[in-house]
Amino acid sequence: MLIRNRRRSECSHSEITPPEVYARRREFLRAGVGLGAGLALGGLGMALPASAALRGFPLEFEGSDYSTDESKTAYDEITSYNNFFEMGPGKSDPKTYADQLKTDPWTITVDGLCENPGEYAVEDFISPWSLEERIYRMRCVEGWSMVIPWIGFELNRIIEKAQPRGGARYVAFESIYDPDNLRGQRRRRGSSGGLEWPYTEGLRLDEAMHPLTILAVGLYDEVLPNQNGAPIRVVVPWKYGFKSIKSIQHIRFVEDQPPTLWNQAQSDEYGFYSNVNPDVDHPRWSQRTERRIGEFRRRRTEMFNGYADEVASLYEGMDLTRYI
Ligand code: MTE
Repeated sequence: MLIRNRRRSECSHSEITPPEVYARRREFLRAGVGLGAGLALGGLGMALPASAALRGFPLEFEGSDYSTDESKTAYDEITSYNNFFEMGPGKSDPKTYADQLKTDPWTITVDGLCENPGEYAVEDFISPWSLEERIYRMRCVEGWSMVIPWIGFELNRIIEKAQPRGGARYVAFESIYDPDNLRGQRRRRGSSGGLEWPYTEGLRLDEAMHPLTILAVGLYDEVLPNQNGAPIRVVVPWKYGFKSIKSIQHIRFVEDQPPTLWNQAQSDEYGFYSNVNPDVDHPRWSQRTERRIGEFRRRRTEMFNGYADEVASLYEGMDLTRYI
């Protein structure tokens, strides 16, 4: 087990992050947010888009106790070999058509069964939180994997702020729907065999609350590139990659297990849980091994993608060959 396993309860966030670093991050965000929120740029008289404002700032974030120390996948691989079906089905489509994703302005709605619903400009949504680097192993259902240094914050911050009501048992997420710009969304909605846009995903509330589950806004020292789910995406490292929904605009607390894009498309192949499990084959291929992008030899896939010590207890008593 390569993950260092210090539990959240053993240390407060302020212990992990020295106060001066914490303050610097807030400075950085405020600066970015100030510009992004529409301050005119001196004599140019132009508003600088939020993403561009953030891009100009150096990000220096120390490692987290939840990070793996395995070698990171190269930036170029992480940003050129992608799944982002809104831009097409090919691995190179997301980078090629990245400009079709319009991220400014960007609003995120939090609603459903919670005490504090809200609608936020993405800058305001991000700015209250200190950002952390989380180096996570990611395993795609198709059999390839990467190690990605994300920059983000724990989803549980948002959930605590929203205060879900007693009846809320799941969190449903929705991505952007913009068929005028996103080539992959044209003429597909509702058509037989097509995908049901927008991309939707869901987590059980305890999975969403787990400290490994983050909202990422950057990778390496960069603002998240469009092809990786700008301006903000979910990252759940113990589940197959498709659970990590990109470019989210809606977070809703619900009572019943929410429909998800891949589960609706092919429920026998893509279950709601989709925990990485080498013992359960995909109906069309084995999940025993994976190819780490940048490596030649295949490696054995680990239960829960190597995060069993952290998350196995979430599924105690569940038959994981049935709840795929
Ligand atoms: N989110 C949206 N909105 N659209 C997508 O097509 N693809 C998923 C997931 N999130 C997808 C998405 C799949 S199948 C994978 S493997 C991961 O994103 C890939 O993330 P990456 O390209 O950043 O590695």
